[in-house]
Amino acid sequence: MSEAKVAEKKPGAGLEDVVAGESSICYIDGLKGVLRYRGYPIQELAERATFEEVVYLLWNGELPKRAELEQFRRSLAEAGRVPEPVYDALRALPKDIHPMAALRTAISVAGHHDPDAEAGPRDPQAARRSAARLQAWVVGIVAAWDRIRRGKEPLAPRPGLSLAAQYFYQTNGTPASDGAVRVFDQCLTLHADHELNASTFTARVIAATLSDVYSSVVGAIGALKGPLHGGANTDVMKMLLEIDAQGKGPAGAKAWVEGALAAKRKISGFGHRVYRAPDPRATKLKELSALTAKDSGEPRWYELSLAVEKAFHELKNLPANVDFFSASAYYALGISPDMYTPIFAISRMSGWVAHVLEQYANNRLIRPRADYLGPDERHVEPLETRG
Ligand code: COA
Repeated sequence: MSEAKVAEKKPGAGLEDVVAGESSICYIDGLKGVLRYRGYPIQELAERATFEEVVYLLWNGELPKRAELEQFRRSLAEAGRVPEPVYDALRALPKDIHPMAALRTAISVAGHHDPDAEAGPRDPQAARRSAARLQAWVVGIVAAWDRIRRGKEPLAPRPGLSLAAQYFYQTNGTPASDGAVRVFDQCLTLHADHELNASTFTARVIAATLSDVYSSVVGAIGALKGPLHGGANTDVMKMLLEIDAQGKGPAGAKAWVEGALAAKRKISGFGHRVYRAPDPRATKLKELSALTAKDSGEPRWYELSLAVEKAFHELKNLPANVDFFSASAYYALGISPDMYTPIFAISRMSGWVAHVLEQYANNRLIRPRADYLGPDERHVEPLETRG
């Protein structure tokens, strides 16, 4: 293609609405508020399947039969405890760093202890063995960091627990209630994949160079960390705590939102590049937030969330996104707000890996062009005469 033709095909800022590749994993209709994984509506998957079944679906294209699910669970269990050098690396980090920075480091170190890591781009079976280790280890790593930073030792996985249950057990040393595990399991399903979001696109760009799966997901973790992407869920809880601290309860929400909008602040948990209709994940998470409020006997965070949602709707007419009601749900489950984004990473690991496997299976280097806005050709003046 000539350089003139390249310039003609200029996309909008932020690649909005650009179709940048093909995928069979995730379908979104932003105008109708539809999200499906491999054809299955997200609400149905959350209600009728476990997170492990959803991970299997994302990686294999079909929901597992019973024997396949048992085998898949065994492959996750065989990943075992996070390699000890990963814990050592975490112990060496300053305790007050961003948990996503700790996760980024830990996943990178974990790659050195996966015998299949380098073979993955050329060997699909090796890539799948790495995938299972990554999915099991990310749970252990997120839980371990939450303990290590509080001066506690990490815990080995307890045999027989689901990934959702492992998270609570490895964080707290005690199993969570069945109700809490079920809500959390559904939250993991709802966050598992979302087509070419910023972190998944990052993972695919890295995978398309035929780099290994660990490099791909380390890049993705870096992208998810940002407040415009996965970091928004932590910021939502900070906002709810800030409004609550004013002491006016839900009645204080509208004035707070008005003030933030007048100050031209972007309010975390609202707006989306793709959805114009309500985000179906937010709709389901709203139900889960209501349920956790009821189960915990503490309606404050759900009620405050409703008031902020109403105020934002009235003042800006933008619907809540996936990060809004997850914040109040996680708070009711007793999860520390700065761990919300690492939890997002536990879930999204499944989607990143699915996209990396899909990229390896039909690869072409991803290498777009830029519209050059710099100076025309000019010539180097010797340092002595440059002034
Ligand atoms: N708070 C206030 N205004 C918002 C907003 C928010 N959260 N999200 C979008 N808007 C407004 C913008 O100010 C802009 O209004 P204008 O046209 O009057 O200037 C308009 O909506 C379009 O916003 P824009 O930033 O161009 O959309 P985008 O597609 O580039 O950005 C997000 C999408 C998600 C980055 C953006 O909505 C945002 O920053 N949301 C908060 C962070 C968040 O929750 N991220 C998680 C996403 S799942």
